[in-house]
Amino acid sequence: MSSTRREFLKVGATATGALALGIDPSQGGVIPALAAPLKILVLGGTGFIGPHMVRRARERGHTITLFNRGRSNDDLFPDLETLIGDRDGKLDALKGRKWDAVIDTSGYVPRHVRDSANLLKGNADQYLFISTVAVYADFKKPGITEDYPGGAMADPTFERVTGESYGPMKVLAEKAVQEAFPTGAIIVRPGYIVGPGDSTDRWTYWPVRVAAGGELLAPGEPSYPMSIIDARDLAAFVVTLIEKKSAGVYNAVGPTRPVPMGSMLEQLKAITKSNASFTWADAGWLAEQKATFPIWNAPTGGYAHLHSVSNAKAIAAGLTFRSLAQTTKDTLEWWNGLPEERRAAMRSGLRKAPELETPTAPMAKQMEVETQLLAAWKARGK
Ligand SMILES: NC(=O)c1ccc[n+]([C@@H]2O[C@H](COP(=O)([O-])OP(=O)(O)OC[C@H]3O[C@@H](n4cnc5c(N)ncnc54)[C@H](OP(=O)(O)O)[C@@H]3O)[C@@H](O)[C@H]2O)c1
Repeated sequence: MSSTRREFLKVGATATGALALGIDPSQGGVIPALAAPLKILVLGGTGFIGPHMVRRARERGHTITLFNRGRSNDDLFPDLETLIGDRDGKLDALKGRKWDAVIDTSGYVPRHVRDSANLLKGNADQYLFISTVAVYADFKKPGITEDYPGGAMADPTFERVTGESYGPMKVLAEKAVQEAFPTGAIIVRPGYIVGPGDSTDRWTYWPVRVAAGGELLAPGEPSYPMSIIDARDLAAFVVTLIEKKSAGVYNAVGPTRPVPMGSMLEQLKAITKSNASFTWADAGWLAEQKATFPIWNAPTGGYAHLHSVSNAKAIAAGLTFRSLAQTTKDTLEWWNGLPEERRAAMRSGLRKAPELETPTAPMAKQMEVETQLLAAWKARGK
């Protein structure tokens, strides 16, 4: 089939409905014709973002092989070939096999990424590595583009992922991929990834809290920017990059422009038909109270512009965004379908020392602490 033909294409046996006709409602339009199905190896694939990528690639008609240890959600894709091994030195299952592209969702340790990239070079044309915007040395200016300096590791052999080492380790991992695949490396740097299946509960806190209603403690100023990307939009982008053979580095953050925090909360209120009201507390006062909120940070210091990284290059390469309403509805449907004990152990949200020092806390407990904070905020200076 001529690659220049503009036509809708039935993309594969698993595709149904609008997607099979080449119209992707979530992406707001027509999926470009698929020249030929690809053989794709996913390193990981059964965590949070991996399954969305696997589903998207299958919808597009590609053939997927998974590689993992067989520990996480091993019943997710029983009909897919799964190669069992470990990124830490047990890669034998990958030897002697060929793929068109590799999607690496699970690389944190540079040595692991270097080993898999070196083993797969020559046996795959493209290696797409999921990195992070945390690679940047700082966020002191708005609109950071892909050429902004990365963070450095004092000891490049250090292998423990911490808040400090996570970004610089990803910098080294990116370099390992680029060295092994000089023409076929695709580096994708997402910001906060959200949506159904997000095991961190970070953004999930906000729709769940707004839906619970009542007076809500909101951090800082309503104008502070927020930027998130739905895991399914990220997945669609990843598959597009591979199909178009778009080697290069891309920030993957959404939406098109950051949403002011106040606007996001008002939208969540409308979407969830909640009676929530918002009381905004000063960021400095919240810091004094040792109170923190997920995803949000005060736009000061080294993280001042974390939420305004440039996505212009990614949008030009095909990144699109579904609506906040869609992300919210799907996230809440997923959350509300989780077992009671999982929801009671919410992994993120309002945290205030010492009342909420545990890594998990039910929403009811978080709201008790929120009530105390609201009272203290209103009583200050009296
Ligand atoms: N969440 C965010 O907001 C965010 C933002 C920016 C970037 N990221 C990036 O997104 C990725 C996280 O994705 P995720 O949460 O879906 O997945 P993940 O937790 O990083 O990885 C899970 C997958 O990798 C496999 N795996 C883990 N350790 C392995 C090992 N030693 N050997 C072989 N397979 C292994 C797991 O299966 P088994 O356990 O069965 O092995 C599972 O399939 C990371 O690269 C992260 O840096 C995330």
